[in-house]
Amino acid sequence: MPKIDVYHTQPSAALFDIEHKAHAYPWSEVVFFQPSGPGTLWWAVSVDDRIAGFANTQLIADEVTLHNIAIDPSYQGQGLGQHLLQHILNYVDEHQALMFLEVRESNATAIHVYQRAGFSLVGRRPHYYASDSGREDALVMRRESK
Ligand SMILES: CC(C)(COP(=O)(O)OP(=O)(O)OC[C@H]1O[C@@H](n2cnc3c(N)ncnc32)[C@H](O)[C@@H]1OP(=O)(O)O)[C@@H](O)C(=O)NCCC(=O)NCCS
Repeated sequence: MPKIDVYHTQPSAALFDIEHKAHAYPWSEVVFFQPSGPGTLWWAVSVDDRIAGFANTQLIADEVTLHNIAIDPSYQGQGLGQHLLQHILNYVDEHQALMFLEVRESNATAIHVYQRAGFSLVGRRPHYYASDSGREDALVMRRESK
């Protein structure tokens, strides 16, 4: 059985490498390494002490926003994204917070993961993301605390 850990971290070259491998349109280096705003947490998930993915959340008042989540492609499809998200949801529930996120409407895997975790569609931002075919809508999803 591999050893899977979730822990708090800081942006690093290893995380930025995963950002580039996982996202077709990754955050720039400037954005990735900018000083974290108030309430920001960086999360890492590791498998046998190797970093396999990360997430970035921000808690403001009673709302948590998931700004980023990425699993290294070589580790995708093994439940790690859901495992990492569950740790974040536990933290959100401890704070009795609402949670919001935005996701590309073409990102079927992420939408599936979010729906399974209790998120529902609450809005749409037209033409929000750059895409290979021009622009793409963002779906806004929300989950109420347990
Ligand atoms: C989205 C992401 C974080 C999920 O992490 P992961 O470790 O691959 O996900 P898991 O293995 O935990 O779960 C994947 C789920 O999606 C399902 N899935 C896989 N491909 C799918 C598809 N094309 N359509 C719908 N569901 C799909 C799997 O069956 C699994 O669900 P199940 O457990 O109910 O069977 C990861 O794929 C990733 O880093 N993607 C690139 C970056 C990204 O898109 N981030 C989200 C930005 S909002």
